[in-house]
Amino acid sequence: MAIDKFFEQTTQQFVRDNILSDDFLDFMRENRLPFDTLMAYYRCAIMEIETKFRVLNEQFGLRYDRNPIESIKTRIKSMDSIIKKMRNKKIPMNMQAIEENIRDIAGVRVICSFEEDIYMLAECLLEQDHIVLIERKDYIKNPKPSGYRSLHLIVEVPIFLKNEKRYMKVEVQLRTIAMDFWASLEHKLRYKKNIPDDEAEILAKELIECADTSAELDRRMGEIRNRIAESELAHKENKSTIGTVLLKHRLNENDGK
Ligand code: GTP
Ligand code: MG
Repeated sequence: MAIDKFFEQTTQQFVRDNILSDDFLDFMRENRLPFDTLMAYYRCAIMEIETKFRVLNEQFGLRYDRNPIESIKTRIKSMDSIIKKMRNKKIPMNMQAIEENIRDIAGVRVICSFEEDIYMLAECLLEQDHIVLIERKDYIKNPKPSGYRSLHLIVEVPIFLKNEKRYMKVEVQLRTIAMDFWASLEHKLRYKKNIPDDEAEILAKELIECADTSAELDRRMGEIRNRIAESELAHKENKSTIGTVLLKHRLNENDGK
């Protein structure tokens, strides 16, 4: 009860000090329209990036008869989270500072079946005209101490407005289904406030083990996929060899006539 009350009071204090502070209210009054406009630009940037991945998925579907992308999730950072980040990182209250310093206002999460596809899709995106790579963090090759794995890209993508081409930052997270499954459970536990410290420590260790198991699963599934692909290729080559032999045989028969 005491703890609940403490959290409630802290939250209310935070709202009073930040969301309702004079500075913040002035900022919002003066910048309502520019802020909404900026958020609309981020939504456009999300659409651009999402479409690029959907196009790549279609193309691979046609060419290799399988789709590398399982699903795509997108989100715009909430006003609350933007304000919290401004406060924590001491970002000045103006639009330019927000745009320059908060790089994950627009988020696109691409879920793949296989780890290999993550790198293939990332390269395909980065090769495209007008895509500018700002930062790449490979938490697959170098997982976080928590066990978290994903490939993160901060990119700039142009959106084409009436009289202007405007580059917007987007955070792209690429992961496998297994990585996503792990991250969503870990994220849920991370924000549970009522778990005692000793239990939290046990769970954190358990989660690191689960992350290792899921990495191993990704690796084995990738290997199985490659072996299936190799067998298919061998089968096709075999068929074409048989075809060539039959063709030669027929030609010889015809010669004999
Ligand atoms: P933020 O300021 O939180 O955005 O961190 P950052 O700029 O250092 O970026 P980082 O690449 O570390 O993480 C950004 C995002 O990746 C987070 O908002 C989460 O979506 C995800 N992420 C990073 N670490 C973890 C983790 O340990 N667990 C889970 N579940 N997600 C994580
Ligand atoms: Mg973030």
